[in-house]
Amino acid sequence: MIYLDNCATTFPKPENVIRSVCNSFKKFGANPGRGGHNAAMQSSQAVFEVREKVQEFFNAGEPENVIFTSGCTESLNTVIKGILKKGDHVVISSLEHNSVVRPLERLKKEGVITYDVAEVCECDHDKTLDNFRNKFNDHTRLVVCTHGSNVFGLRLPVERLAALCHQYGIKICVDAAQTAGVLPIDVKGDCIDYLCLSGHKGLYGPMGIGVLIINCDTVPMPLKEGGTGSSSLSLEQPDFLPDRFESGTPNLTGICGLGAGINFVKFKGTENIFKHEMNFLSRVYKMLCQNDNIILYTQKPDLNYHVPVLSFNIKGKSSEETAAILNRRFNIAARAGLHCSPLAHISMGTENTGTVRICPSVFTDYSNCEFLIKALKKI
Ligand code: ALA
Repeated sequence: MIYLDNCATTFPKPENVIRSVCNSFKKFGANPGRGGHNAAMQSSQAVFEVREKVQEFFNAGEPENVIFTSGCTESLNTVIKGILKKGDHVVISSLEHNSVVRPLERLKKEGVITYDVAEVCECDHDKTLDNFRNKFNDHTRLVVCTHGSNVFGLRLPVERLAALCHQYGIKICVDAAQTAGVLPIDVKGDCIDYLCLSGHKGLYGPMGIGVLIINCDTVPMPLKEGGTGSSSLSLEQPDFLPDRFESGTPNLTGICGLGAGINFVKFKGTENIFKHEMNFLSRVYKMLCQNDNIILYTQKPDLNYHVPVLSFNIKGKSSEETAAILNRRFNIAARAGLHCSPLAHISMGTENTGTVRICPSVFTDYSNCEFLIKALKKI
């Protein structure tokens, strides 16, 4: 199989990740933070070490600023539902995923908030920033913005956007689902208030583990309350991090796998991974440009303006049909349709057709590029 759906989840996973997940079952599978015996202490230590690793990797300040969640969706929901109050206004980009849009839409329907969408302009960060600025009003409390589109690979200038938000006293929440492990992210250096990410994509961890990094004084209300293994006599949820957000038995195997994934990414080097994937897509793009039957929606992949995700269609074929033939006849895995990101498709005019999306990983071989292009020619 040629796997080009790494935006949905990276596959295969590195050997050290698989080993680490297995070891967490075989060698020390006790409940972390829920006992003083050796096995529980060993599990707690493993969780703490990964927390430190995440903190260091994203320059998150203190390890306790790192909250383990079930995924990027939970991280985003925690921020959106946990800090917004009646009358607040939110600005999001035109490329947001349903994990941002759906919680906001519900809060809007319930009369709690209003929100506006700022159009992202490909290869023009200044214009994109202007579009955000023009949507701000006196009630704007939060900007939620993807670091890189999961459909069209457009990259957003989140560092500059964070600086702009802070000029206006607005908090920024960055959705790094597609960029964690692929682009450098400096939470403290770039003053990102909330960073949300998934562990199973560019960090090569297992599914079911995500991270929320909180880097400001506005601490959200937790989505859930329950046992944290701390302050157990208190009937109230702890107010300290990370326990405030980590009720219930932690996902030890996921956390261990995430730690190993970060080791893998550090070993390969984020910059090398990014360049490898962008080179692959540049080759694909160049070849697709030579085929009149292919519709491309974005400009040539550029390190400053794109992340390694590319969408296209074959004229006269639905995206689902193309992806189904790629799968059936050529054993190429690519995702078609709307990719849970209706706003992105509406802004590109592809909401009725969807697109075929390809995204490489560090394991993608350049020779797959020729095979893909030949397959598309045949189709
Ligand atoms: N959000 C993931 C994707 O883009 C699942 O496919």
